[in-house]
Amino acid sequence: MADVAIVGAGLIGAGIAYELAKRGATVTVFDRDEPARAASWAGAGMLAPFSEELPDPAMLALCRASLEMYPAFVEELRESSGVDAKLVPCGTLHVALDDASFAALRSIAPVFRANGGDVQLLDRTEIFEREAALTRTVAGGLFVENEAQVDNRRLGRALVAACERRGVRFERCAELSIEADARRVRGVNTSRGFVPVGAVVNAAGAWAGAVAGVPPSARIPVIPVAGEMLAIAVPRSFARALIWLGHTYLVPRGDGRLLVGATVAERGFDARVSAHGVHVLLDAALKAIPALAEFALVETWAGLRPGTPDKRPFLGATPIDGYFVAAGHYRNGILLTPITARALAETIATGQTDVDLDAFGQARVEPGTALAAAN
Ligand code: GLY
Repeated sequence: MADVAIVGAGLIGAGIAYELAKRGATVTVFDRDEPARAASWAGAGMLAPFSEELPDPAMLALCRASLEMYPAFVEELRESSGVDAKLVPCGTLHVALDDASFAALRSIAPVFRANGGDVQLLDRTEIFEREAALTRTVAGGLFVENEAQVDNRRLGRALVAACERRGVRFERCAELSIEADARRVRGVNTSRGFVPVGAVVNAAGAWAGAVAGVPPSARIPVIPVAGEMLAIAVPRSFARALIWLGHTYLVPRGDGRLLVGATVAERGFDARVSAHGVHVLLDAALKAIPALAEFALVETWAGLRPGTPDKRPFLGATPIDGYFVAAGHYRNGILLTPITARALAETIATGQTDVDLDAFGQARVEPGTALAAAN
């Protein structure tokens, strides 16, 4: 198999590198930053295809298939790297703080069920049996049993170590451009010179639309959509499930941090944490769990989601021979890592995959399409 260059060392790029290396490819992954940083590090690791507002059945099917791959994916990486990415089948509890919100949950329950969610409506007593810390004024809830979380920072470490064991090289590179003519890719120009390769994968996350040297016919419109988050140190077992509060969610980690996320803002490549963002997140979290006010705020951070006009990623081959795209996963990059990695590696190695990528083609959006709001 030809040598492969991957642009972007996030979970998506590293995942493809790992699957390609398993198939015998020689792979180099280029990134400005350390591997598995950016959105891969900033995310909350929610594996929640029913609770996320997915845009269409093709996206739902892809996300569900990737969720099913997760236990074996995490176990394989643990065996290879010694790092356990802590996959927890904790489910998602949607919490209604008033009667109108509870009515909305009751009306969405059949939709979640039809999509494959294992869903139960909960009254106040049942909610407190699950999450005792919630405010006493809670009206009701909806529990989605078959959703989970993974520690995405640990997953990044596991994946990079597993890649390195298989001979994948990671190179920091401040400037990079793709070298291609109108028909095929030739290689990548890096800070250290030209690197000839047979295949290039654009897995540059929020930066994927701005990779230099891509011929116009193969460009993808990807825009950064900022998400701010924070973490509160809580006693262990303070909360168990992913707690969904409409626009805000709480993710209890086994290490005693409760993650609170995330804002959604189109403001270019601005990954600062704003006072407004922290205010919005804390306001929602404290309304749902007033006791959080007593605990320490231990971390704030922000990341850039890769948004696309139709909220679907771009996956697979392009009109340029040897140039592939795997970008634009928006809110579901961590969830979609296993299936993206396999589908792209199969496509690059054999020219085909049994993953249905028809809805995710690069050409579905005209080059130069206005970058519509992703949120
Ligand atoms: N997946 C949740 C988020 O992007 O905020």
